[in-house]
Amino acid sequence: MNVRRATITAVGHYTPEKVLSNADLEKMVDTNDEWIRTRTGISERRILEKGATSDLAAKAVEKLLERRGIDATEIDLIIVATVTPDMFFPATACIVQDKIGATKAWGFDISAACSGFLFALSTGARFIEAGTHAKVVVVGADKMSAIVDYTDRNTCVLFGDAAAAVLLEPSDDPAFGLIDQKLYTDGSGGPYLHMKAGGSLHPPTHETIDKRMHFIYQDGKSVFKAAVVGMADVAVEIMERNNLKSEDVAWLVPHQANLRIIDATAQRMGIDPSQVMINISRFGNTTAATIPLCLSEWWENGKLKKGQNVVLAAFGAGYTWGATYIKWSLPNPMEKA
Ligand code: UT7
Repeated sequence: MNVRRATITAVGHYTPEKVLSNADLEKMVDTNDEWIRTRTGISERRILEKGATSDLAAKAVEKLLERRGIDATEIDLIIVATVTPDMFFPATACIVQDKIGATKAWGFDISAACSGFLFALSTGARFIEAGTHAKVVVVGADKMSAIVDYTDRNTCVLFGDAAAAVLLEPSDDPAFGLIDQKLYTDGSGGPYLHMKAGGSLHPPTHETIDKRMHFIYQDGKSVFKAAVVGMADVAVEIMERNNLKSEDVAWLVPHQANLRIIDATAQRMGIDPSQVMINISRFGNTTAATIPLCLSEWWENGKLKKGQNVVLAAFGAGYTWGATYIKWSLPNPMEKA
């Protein structure tokens, strides 16, 4: 059977300049650097002072286009995974499409919180595999600072702003590219992690604002327990059904919500911490951006190499979770040299 696979042919990311450190947060809420670092692994996060999610996303996509050496007009489809769209409608993908001048592309947003990039990647891959699209841009972008309550120490220490993007194109060789994915949703997890108001259930009123219902709510302990099991289970499932032993996996690319969840996932997969992409200490949880941000940084630094087996894994609000197996095909800048 002839398989037309989607493969990642370019990566790009953007993180805003302003750093919000644990020391800064100590001045805002009753917290301390030691608690944040030991409970989460986070030291600092980036904050977008001016602009919206589409600005983060557009910069990440522009970087990707520059690296691939193509014009925005060559893009067929733009999918943006985000829980912080510029506005309810139009979709942030439309705004990005206009900002970058991707005049021939159509696009839409996907809302799957911290699993958003994996859900969007799977969706984008189907358009390549179907043979109807040749260049699909998948973006994970979130300006989490727009929905974080900086008076709530339970959540404000966790999140940051960032965007990262990948370009999907048909693979020349079916041995490379997005080989497999498994995605899950369990809506009964909704009460533990959500933003209550602003939608059709609780449209904005003075009362919703007074009750601080337009911010992230998280029952951290419940989400933690579900995330540890969900992310590790699905990562192991994707390994088993692709006959991957721990020594076959070059990189685990986990969603960066909590270092303890990442460590538990790596342990269950039987892989060494040195094989795990971790940048949570510098960026915190950037929701849909965490996984492509890791891919882009590790590729840029020459550590992500052509031919490596890469397992992406995420868990987030919904609940949503999943894992993706990629045989990496894009040579990094050092390999090219
Ligand atoms: O990305 C989407 C998915 N999200 C996740 O995967 C996040 C999952 N959850 C977590 O990562 C962790 O549950 C948190 C990092 C959010 C919290 O860590 P925890 O070890 O579960 O702490 P906790 O919520 O059980 O709180 C322990 C204590 C509490 O004090 P008491 O009640 O024991 O006196 C909290 O009030 O720590 C207190 N606490 C803090 N102390 C200092 C909570 N936040 C802070 C803080 N600084 N920022």
